[in-house]
Amino acid sequence: MTSHHSKGWLAKGWLAKGWLARGLLRSPFQIVLLGVVMLALTLVMANVSSASAGEAFPPVANQPADGTSKADMWQGIRSGVQGTVTIPNKSAGVLVQSEGEAWRSLRNGPLSTYGGWVLGGMLGLLVLFFLVRGRIRIDGQKTGRTIQRFNAFERGVHWLTAGSFIVLAFTGLNVLYGRHTILPLMGPEAFAAMTQYGKFAHNYLGFAFMLGIVLIFVMWVKHNIPERNDIAWALKAGGLFSKGVHPAAKKFNAGQKVIFWATVLGGAALGFTGVQLLWPFSFASMADMQLYQLIHSAVAVVLIAIVIAHIYIGSVGMEGAFDAMGTGDVELQWAREHHSLWVQEVTGETPRHHHGHHRAPAE
Ligand code: HEM
Repeated sequence: MTSHHSKGWLAKGWLAKGWLARGLLRSPFQIVLLGVVMLALTLVMANVSSASAGEAFPPVANQPADGTSKADMWQGIRSGVQGTVTIPNKSAGVLVQSEGEAWRSLRNGPLSTYGGWVLGGMLGLLVLFFLVRGRIRIDGQKTGRTIQRFNAFERGVHWLTAGSFIVLAFTGLNVLYGRHTILPLMGPEAFAAMTQYGKFAHNYLGFAFMLGIVLIFVMWVKHNIPERNDIAWALKAGGLFSKGVHPAAKKFNAGQKVIFWATVLGGAALGFTGVQLLWPFSFASMADMQLYQLIHSAVAVVLIAIVIAHIYIGSVGMEGAFDAMGTGDVELQWAREHHSLWVQEVTGETPRHHHGHHRAPAE
């Protein structure tokens, strides 16, 4: 600020009292000496640091003893050569598991993309179906009488399977897509906590789902063997697209048989691959687990899409359907329209040929 201040600083400052002022570095000899000392220090430092680096990473010969080149060595590492390690985890001997790259790009690429299309496509189709067809109503006059369709045990098994499947679906989809969809909305902390609990739920509920699948198979397999009726039913698309069309069906129609077998076979595949992933390396190698992970997610996405359609038709999509899994008793007229041959079996009444669309049994 003031000339007095700067003058005083110059006068009393370190420069004035420094080496230069005291004449220590006045001769060329002294300057050369300083240069030599600094150079020596630099060399010592460089040597120390290279020596310590040498301890951490033993020097790699350009020509290893076996005559291969350094490029060959890295190529070996890159292609997953198994080295030796003294720790129990022998797979740590593989520095680079190259298949991991392929697995990762399949998972984050086509698997996720097509999975999104399958799920989004199914939702879109159902919205379209609802807009065009509306809720499928009971066409005939309701009787006010009901008929038992599923007993308490069957309903319990259905809801055990359905409840666990729905939680498994959400927590599984979170693992596949959550990072790109929910994380930006929730922020990292909340997302990490949610995903952690979701993972626990996924791990444990897998067993409830597997039990449910086994019981569903045992309970209903006898009603789900394909038969000739199913062809006629399928040719009319079950009457799903045309009001008043009700092809004959036994306890389960062809569409339900597809749901049954998709659930049972898809569930078996999910259970098998899921157990392999639940105990890493216990049953499968790294490469196997990568394959199982891809199968697990692909099957899951397809089954979720199928189940979304099932949930739709079993609830809002069709009047009277939910009761079958709710109270267990369905309106007799509903049963006549959708499962005429089953009604005949249970009550002894002959199917009515209303609207002329019923077929006599093929037998
Ligand atoms: C909120 C969800 C769900 C609802 C509202 C629902 C509803 C229903 C209804 C009403 C039935 C009986 C249909 C009939 O009487 O003919 C049924 C059957 C069945 N459900 Fe579900 N369900 C749901 C979830 C699930 C899930 C998640 C699964 C499997 C993962 C599943 C598997 C089955 C199977 C295999 C059958 C027998 C075959 C069939 O009727 O299609 N359900 N469900």
